Amino acid sequence: MTSRVVLAYSGGLDTSVAIGWIAEETGAEVIAVAADVGQGGEDLEVIRQRALECGAVESVVLDAKAEYAEEYCVPALQANALYMDAYPLVSALSRPLIVKHLARVALDLGADTVAHGCTGKGNDQVRFEVGLAALAPDIRVIAPVRDSGMTRDKAIAFAEDKGLPIDQSKRSPYSIDQNLWGRAVETGFLEDPWNAPIEDLYSYTSDPATAGAPDELTISFTAGVPTAVDGVAMAPLALVEELNRRAGAQGVGRLDMVEDRLIGIKSREVYEAPAAVALIAAHRELQAMTAERDLARFTRTVQQRWTELVYDGLWFSPLKRALDTFLLEANATVTGDIRLRLSAGTAVVTGRRSQASLYDYGLATYDSADTFDQGLAKGFVELWGLPSRIAARRDARLSSRAHGSERLG
Ligand code: ARG
Repeated sequence: MTSRVVLAYSGGLDTSVAIGWIAEETGAEVIAVAADVGQGGEDLEVIRQRALECGAVESVVLDAKAEYAEEYCVPALQANALYMDAYPLVSALSRPLIVKHLARVALDLGADTVAHGCTGKGNDQVRFEVGLAALAPDIRVIAPVRDSGMTRDKAIAFAEDKGLPIDQSKRSPYSIDQNLWGRAVETGFLEDPWNAPIEDLYSYTSDPATAGAPDELTISFTAGVPTAVDGVAMAPLALVEELNRRAGAQGVGRLDMVEDRLIGIKSREVYEAPAAVALIAAHRELQAMTAERDLARFTRTVQQRWTELVYDGLWFSPLKRALDTFLLEANATVTGDIRLRLSAGTAVVTGRRSQASLYDYGLATYDSADTFDQGLAKGFVELWGLPSRIAARRDARLSSRAHGSERLG
């Protein structure tokens, strides 16, 4: 029996060429799988047909937008996931979903190998292969661009030679990856980190400098899941799309950063993620109001670790799964409304209210409604500082450890 390879297919030049390339190199039948994670652009049916025209024996396309919103974007929001305090994991988030479907199709259609079109320099190869290792540990992986010399020039020559239906004129000078949660732009003139991004790079956001009048909106959350905008209930997919529109119109969520890739390279990346950045600002603030202090502090550590695991391709790892459980529990009280002001590239929280609020006006106020017993503070501060005072006296006693006197000059 001819062996079968399942290829992660995007519809672009590299993976279109990879269909015939893999067939020629291995003698296997190629099954193309493409997932719509909200990247926009071409119709799924057009992509499905192109894979067949390029020689795939089967071509599977799936609309995974709602699944992506609910099972990937929402957990990332609940984790306030910003890698290096900035990047909302756009590409890192979509790969595990794609991997899940690749593994399923491979098992359903009797393929023993999965193929992807990643290079050897990025994070996505790790996310594909480590994800597959976790879901289908016996499946083999091939990567023609990385492992069998399928360079861009050779890919173009191959496409011309075989008359493949690929429109070269539509090719961008950048490497772009985009989905519902945002958009990543790399390479080209951006490889010089001193070069400023140009307006042409962006498509999810308008120029913040020329944005119109500020926009104000209220986002409602239930247990850390966004459920409504301005009182209108929406499923996560529609809600994220709505926020991409409204925050995008104000130029919210543009990033320009040097990023630490898992494989050790520092790379210059430009992102735009209007909905992700606005939603995380809102969620973070509601969590600040509703999570007990120690839970909130520890949750920030967990969120950072969760984010790094996902960035590093470990979505399906045991630690990530355990942290998911923690984060669900930590989000249980994150219910309420956040008012956001979107204006000239910023998303600023201007109001918050919640039935689960721990904010106590009587304790916080400085006016006559004050219910806080200030007398209690005196003893608390005394005891809180006690270890420091004892250590300082000891240091003064031992001249070799006279930190206290050193500090005082
Ligand atoms: N550096 C980002 C990440 O690792 C974006 C990767 C984008 N991928 C691409 N093929 N352009 O998540």
